Amino acid sequence: MKRVITYGTFDLLHYGHINLLKRAKQFGDYLIVGLSTDEFNMIKGKKSYFCFEQRKTLLDAIKYVDQVIPENTWDQKIYDIKTHNIDIFVMGDDWKGYFDFLKEYCKVVYLPRTPEISTSKIKLDLKM
Ligand code: CTP
Repeated sequence: MKRVITYGTFDLLHYGHINLLKRAKQFGDYLIVGLSTDEFNMIKGKKSYFCFEQRKTLLDAIKYVDQVIPENTWDQKIYDIKTHNIDIFVMGDDWKGYFDFLKEYCKVVYLPRTPEISTSKIKLDLKM
């Protein structure tokens, strides 16, 4: 049983997110998503349209996602990997190299982003 983890805000859920979650799940049997809380988004300089509970409800409904946990800080990843017995850490390649320090604890994989879609683009296109 291989356990996979990924992190993100996943606001205004779009096909780029689904694509990422589908490919992440293919690395194992159980996928955990560390979902950025509204407070952590503020620290990251992001403000989501949907609040944490709404974003969690959407992720919980996706067949590739087995569990959603809150992402509260930049520093929780090693703790999460150990606590949840994670084998593989997956992120989109906009984060390439950034989490290589986790290789000491599990496999680290960066997946190519789906082109031409992002939450920011949706917001811009809709002028939100
Ligand atoms: N992602 C992806 N392809 C996209 C958009 C996002 O693979 N077109 C991935 C990111 O690389 C990340 C995860 O989905 O691993 C969550 O990304 P998030 O930052 O929440 O979504 P974005 O659409 O990139 O949001 P924003 O525009 O606010 O940065």
